[in-house]
Amino acid sequence: MTDPLIPAVLSFRDNGTPFSPLYDDIYHSAVGALEQAHYVFLRGNALPERWHGRRVFTVLETGFGMGINFLMTWAAWRADSSRCERLHFVSTEKHPFALADLRRAYAAILSDPAIAALADTLASEWPMLVPGTHRLEFDEGRVVLTLVFADAQQSLPNLRLRADAFYLDGFAPAKNPELWTPAVFKSLARLAGEGATFATYSSAGDIKRADAGRLRVQKGGRLRLETRDAGRPFRAALARAPS
Ligand SMILES: C[S@@+](CC[C@H](N)C(=O)[O-])C[C@H]1O[C@@H](n2cnc3c(N)ncnc32)[C@H](O)[C@@H]1O
Repeated sequence: MTDPLIPAVLSFRDNGTPFSPLYDDIYHSAVGALEQAHYVFLRGNALPERWHGRRVFTVLETGFGMGINFLMTWAAWRADSSRCERLHFVSTEKHPFALADLRRAYAAILSDPAIAALADTLASEWPMLVPGTHRLEFDEGRVVLTLVFADAQQSLPNLRLRADAFYLDGFAPAKNPELWTPAVFKSLARLAGEGATFATYSSAGDIKRADAGRLRVQKGGRLRLETRDAGRPFRAALARAPS
Protein backbone atom coordinates (compact mmCIF):
# COMPACT_ATOMS: atom_id res chain seq x y z
CA MET A 1 0.00 0.00 0.00
CA THR A 2 1.20 3.55 -0.75
CA ASP A 3 2.06 5.67 2.27
CA PRO A 4 -0.20 8.72 2.76
CA LEU A 5 1.29 12.06 1.79
CA ILE A 6 2.72 14.35 4.42
CA PRO A 7 1.75 17.88 3.36
CA ALA A 8 4.24 20.75 3.45
CA VAL A 9 4.26 23.05 6.46
CA LEU A 10 4.05 26.72 5.48
CA SER A 11 6.30 29.09 7.47
CA PHE A 12 7.92 32.41 6.75
CA ARG A 13 11.26 33.90 7.70
CA ASP A 14 11.23 37.37 9.28
CA ASN A 15 11.91 38.93 5.85
CA GLY A 16 8.78 37.24 4.45
CA THR A 17 10.61 34.48 2.53
CA PRO A 18 8.68 31.18 2.60
CA PHE A 19 10.61 28.56 4.49
CA SER A 20 10.33 24.79 5.04
CA PRO A 21 10.83 23.67 8.65
CA LEU A 22 10.99 20.10 7.34
CA TYR A 23 14.08 20.79 5.20
CA ASP A 24 15.44 23.86 7.00
CA ASP A 25 15.67 25.66 3.67
CA ILE A 26 13.90 28.48 1.85
CA TYR A 27 11.46 27.92 -1.02
CA HIS A 28 12.79 30.88 -2.99
CA SER A 29 15.63 33.34 -2.68
CA ALA A 30 15.12 36.51 -0.70
CA VAL A 31 15.42 38.43 -4.01
CA GLY A 32 11.94 37.29 -4.83
CA ALA A 33 10.21 34.19 -6.07
CA LEU A 34 9.22 35.60 -9.46
CA GLU A 35 12.66 37.04 -10.22
CA GLN A 36 14.33 33.75 -9.29
CA ALA A 37 11.98 31.77 -11.50
CA HIS A 38 12.65 34.11 -14.40
CA TYR A 39 16.43 34.45 -14.16
CA VAL A 40 17.40 31.03 -12.90
CA PHE A 41 14.89 28.65 -14.44
CA LEU A 42 13.51 30.33 -17.57
CA ARG A 43 16.65 32.19 -18.66
CA GLY A 44 18.83 29.31 -17.44
CA ASN A 45 17.05 27.11 -19.99
CA ALA A 46 17.03 29.84 -22.69
CA LEU A 47 13.25 30.13 -22.53
CA PRO A 48 11.09 31.27 -24.18
CA GLU A 49 13.35 31.15 -27.31
CA ARG A 50 13.90 27.39 -27.19
CA TRP A 51 10.23 26.52 -27.52
CA HIS A 52 9.73 28.67 -30.63
CA GLY A 53 8.40 26.65 -33.56
CA ARG A 54 7.99 23.52 -31.47
CA ARG A 55 4.79 21.51 -31.43
CA VAL A 56 5.31 20.31 -27.85
CA PHE A 57 7.84 21.50 -25.30
CA THR A 58 8.25 19.53 -22.08
CA VAL A 59 9.64 20.84 -18.81
CA LEU A 60 10.48 18.44 -15.99
CA GLU A 61 10.87 19.86 -12.52
CA THR A 62 12.03 18.25 -9.28
CA GLY A 63 10.11 19.96 -6.46
CA PHE A 64 6.85 21.73 -7.37
CA GLY A 65 6.60 23.59 -4.06
CA MET A 66 4.20 26.47 -4.57
CA GLY A 67 4.39 26.19 -8.32
CA ILE A 68 5.99 29.60 -8.81
CA ASN A 69 8.24 28.25 -11.56
CA PHE A 70 5.22 26.73 -13.26
CA LEU A 71 3.23 29.97 -13.02
CA MET A 72 6.11 32.00 -14.47
CA THR A 73 6.62 29.49 -17.29
CA TRP A 74 2.90 29.50 -18.07
CA ALA A 75 2.84 33.32 -18.03
CA ALA A 76 5.88 33.46 -20.36
CA TRP A 77 4.16 31.00 -22.72
CA ARG A 78 0.98 33.09 -22.75
CA ALA A 79 2.89 36.30 -23.43
CA ASP A 80 4.89 34.83 -26.31
CA SER A 81 3.41 35.17 -29.79
CA SER A 82 5.89 32.52 -31.08
CA ARG A 83 5.05 30.02 -28.34
CA CYS A 84 5.06 26.27 -28.87
CA GLU A 85 1.68 24.73 -29.63
CA ARG A 86 1.63 22.79 -26.38
CA LEU A 87 3.48 23.21 -23.12
CA HIS A 88 3.77 20.16 -20.92
CA PHE A 89 5.05 20.87 -17.42
CA VAL A 90 5.73 17.79 -15.31
CA SER A 91 6.68 18.26 -11.68
CA THR A 92 7.34 15.88 -8.81
CA GLU A 93 6.44 16.81 -5.25
CA LYS A 94 6.87 14.72 -2.11
CA HIS A 95 5.18 17.19 0.26
CA PRO A 96 2.48 19.15 -1.58
CA PHE A 97 0.80 22.10 0.10
CA ALA A 98 -2.74 21.79 1.34
CA LEU A 99 -4.97 24.09 -0.69
CA ALA A 100 -5.52 26.60 2.14
CA ASP A 101 -1.75 26.96 2.62
CA LEU A 102 -1.18 27.31 -1.12
CA ARG A 103 -3.65 30.18 -1.22
CA ARG A 104 -2.11 31.72 1.91
CA ALA A 105 1.35 31.54 0.32
CA TYR A 106 0.10 33.17 -2.90
CA ALA A 107 -1.59 35.96 -0.95
CA ALA A 108 1.69 36.61 0.89
CA ILE A 109 4.20 36.50 -1.96
CA LEU A 110 2.47 37.34 -5.24
CA SER A 111 2.18 41.04 -5.92
CA ASP A 112 2.02 40.78 -9.74
CA PRO A 113 -1.71 40.74 -10.62
CA ALA A 114 -1.25 38.65 -13.80
CA ILE A 115 0.65 35.93 -11.93
CA ALA A 116 -1.81 36.12 -9.04
CA ALA A 117 -4.67 35.49 -11.50
CA LEU A 118 -2.91 32.38 -12.88
CA ALA A 119 -2.22 31.26 -9.31
CA ASP A 120 -5.91 31.57 -8.55
CA THR A 121 -6.76 29.41 -11.58
CA LEU A 122 -4.20 26.81 -10.48
CA ALA A 123 -5.54 26.83 -6.91
CA SER A 124 -9.08 26.33 -8.18
CA GLU A 125 -7.91 23.12 -9.93
CA TRP A 126 -5.57 21.97 -7.14
CA PRO A 127 -6.00 18.19 -6.69
CA MET A 128 -6.69 16.36 -3.48
CA LEU A 129 -3.51 15.35 -1.70
CA VAL A 130 -3.54 11.78 -2.90
CA PRO A 131 -0.28 10.08 -3.90
CA GLY A 132 0.15 9.55 -7.64
CA THR A 133 -0.23 11.48 -10.87
CA HIS A 134 -2.67 14.37 -11.33
CA ARG A 135 -3.16 15.93 -14.77
CA LEU A 136 -4.44 19.49 -14.94
CA GLU A 137 -5.26 21.30 -18.18
CA PHE A 138 -5.31 25.04 -18.83
CA ASP A 139 -5.80 27.29 -21.84
CA GLU A 140 -8.00 24.84 -23.76
CA GLY A 141 -5.65 21.98 -22.99
CA ARG A 142 -2.63 23.64 -24.61
CA VAL A 143 -0.93 23.87 -21.22
CA VAL A 144 -0.82 20.59 -19.32
CA LEU A 145 0.48 20.36 -15.79
CA THR A 146 1.27 16.83 -14.64
CA LEU A 147 1.79 16.77 -10.90
CA VAL A 148 3.41 13.66 -9.52
CA PHE A 149 2.73 13.58 -5.80
CA ALA A 150 5.44 11.15 -4.72
CA ASP A 151 9.08 10.98 -3.78
CA ALA A 152 11.04 11.79 -6.94
CA GLN A 153 13.47 8.99 -6.13
CA GLN A 154 10.65 6.54 -6.72
CA SER A 155 8.64 8.39 -9.37
CA LEU A 156 11.41 9.52 -11.77
CA PRO A 157 12.42 6.00 -12.84
CA ASN A 158 8.79 5.33 -13.81
CA LEU A 159 8.22 8.43 -15.92
CA ARG A 160 7.90 8.10 -19.68
CA LEU A 161 8.64 11.38 -21.41
CA ARG A 162 11.30 13.32 -23.28
CA ALA A 163 12.21 16.46 -21.36
CA ASP A 164 13.43 19.55 -23.21
CA ALA A 165 14.23 21.52 -20.06
CA PHE A 166 14.87 20.49 -16.48
CA TYR A 167 14.25 22.69 -13.46
CA LEU A 168 16.28 21.18 -10.61
CA ASP A 169 14.58 22.81 -7.66
CA GLY A 170 14.47 20.34 -4.78
CA PHE A 171 16.25 22.48 -2.16
CA ALA A 172 20.03 22.78 -1.84
CA PRO A 173 22.14 19.60 -1.98
CA ALA A 174 23.38 20.21 1.58
CA LYS A 175 19.81 20.43 2.90
CA ASN A 176 18.26 17.71 0.78
CA PRO A 177 20.94 15.30 -0.51
CA GLU A 178 18.32 12.71 -1.55
CA LEU A 179 17.52 14.72 -4.70
CA TRP A 180 21.19 14.99 -5.73
CA THR A 181 22.20 11.34 -5.85
CA PRO A 182 23.72 9.43 -8.80
CA ALA A 183 20.46 7.44 -9.03
CA VAL A 184 18.37 10.61 -9.44
CA PHE A 185 20.74 11.93 -12.14
CA LYS A 186 20.67 8.61 -13.91
CA SER A 187 16.87 8.92 -14.08
CA LEU A 188 17.08 12.50 -15.32
CA ALA A 189 19.64 11.55 -17.95
CA ARG A 190 17.31 8.82 -19.20
CA LEU A 191 14.51 11.35 -19.59
CA ALA A 192 16.60 14.01 -21.38
CA GLY A 193 15.51 14.69 -24.96
CA GLU A 194 17.89 15.73 -27.72
CA GLY A 195 19.51 19.04 -26.76
CA ALA A 196 17.81 19.22 -23.39
CA THR A 197 19.07 21.83 -20.94
CA PHE A 198 18.71 22.26 -17.25
CA ALA A 199 19.01 24.95 -14.63
CA THR A 200 19.34 25.01 -10.89
CA TYR A 201 19.59 27.65 -8.20
CA SER A 202 22.29 25.61 -6.45
CA SER A 203 25.80 26.90 -6.93
CA ALA A 204 28.51 25.04 -8.80
CA GLY A 205 30.29 24.60 -5.44
CA ASP A 206 27.20 23.03 -3.87
CA ILE A 207 26.95 20.62 -6.76
CA LYS A 208 30.64 19.74 -6.65
CA ARG A 209 30.24 18.83 -3.00
CA ALA A 210 27.10 16.77 -3.67
CA ASP A 211 27.42 13.17 -4.78
CA ALA A 212 25.55 13.96 -7.97
CA GLY A 213 27.15 11.24 -10.06
CA ARG A 214 26.45 12.11 -13.68
CA LEU A 215 26.11 15.82 -13.03
CA ARG A 216 29.52 17.42 -13.42
CA VAL A 217 30.72 20.96 -13.02
CA GLN A 218 32.95 22.23 -15.80
CA LYS A 219 35.15 25.29 -16.12
CA GLY A 220 33.26 28.55 -15.76
CA GLY A 221 30.58 26.91 -13.63
CA ARG A 222 28.88 25.21 -16.55
CA LEU A 223 27.13 21.99 -15.70
CA ARG A 224 27.16 18.88 -17.77
CA LEU A 225 24.91 15.91 -17.40
CA GLU A 226 26.48 12.70 -18.67
CA THR A 227 23.74 10.87 -20.51
CA ARG A 228 25.47 8.01 -22.23
CA ASP A 229 23.56 4.80 -21.63
CA ALA A 230 24.53 1.48 -23.12
CA GLY A 231 23.47 1.47 -26.75
CA ARG A 232 21.86 4.90 -26.65
CA PRO A 233 23.09 8.07 -28.32
CA PHE A 234 24.92 10.66 -26.29
CA ARG A 235 22.86 13.67 -25.36
CA ALA A 236 24.31 16.62 -23.53
CA ALA A 237 22.36 18.88 -21.27
CA LEU A 238 24.14 22.08 -20.45
CA ALA A 239 23.31 25.11 -18.41
CA ARG A 240 25.17 27.60 -16.32
CA ALA A 241 25.08 27.23 -12.56
CA PRO A 242 24.75 30.50 -10.69
CA SER A 243 28.09 31.14 -8.98
C1 LIG B 1 12.80 24.91 -3.33
S1 LIG B 1 11.26 24.08 -3.19
C2 LIG B 1 10.57 24.18 -4.81
C3 LIG B 1 10.02 25.53 -5.23
C4 LIG B 1 9.15 25.41 -6.46
N1 LIG B 1 9.81 24.87 -7.62
C5 LIG B 1 8.38 26.64 -6.80
O1 LIG B 1 8.48 27.12 -7.94
O2 LIG B 1 7.63 27.11 -5.94
C6 LIG B 1 11.75 22.37 -3.15
C7 LIG B 1 10.61 21.38 -3.19
O3 LIG B 1 11.15 20.07 -3.36
C8 LIG B 1 10.31 19.17 -2.67
N2 LIG B 1 11.02 17.90 -2.46
C9 LIG B 1 12.02 17.66 -1.59
N3 LIG B 1 12.44 16.38 -1.66
C10 LIG B 1 11.69 15.79 -2.61
C11 LIG B 1 11.65 14.48 -3.17
N4 LIG B 1 12.48 13.52 -2.73
N5 LIG B 1 10.76 14.23 -4.15
C12 LIG B 1 9.92 15.20 -4.60
N6 LIG B 1 9.90 16.45 -4.10
C13 LIG B 1 10.78 16.76 -3.13
C14 LIG B 1 9.98 19.91 -1.40
O4 LIG B 1 8.86 19.38 -0.73
C15 LIG B 1 9.78 21.34 -1.93
O5 LIG B 1 8.45 21.60 -2.22
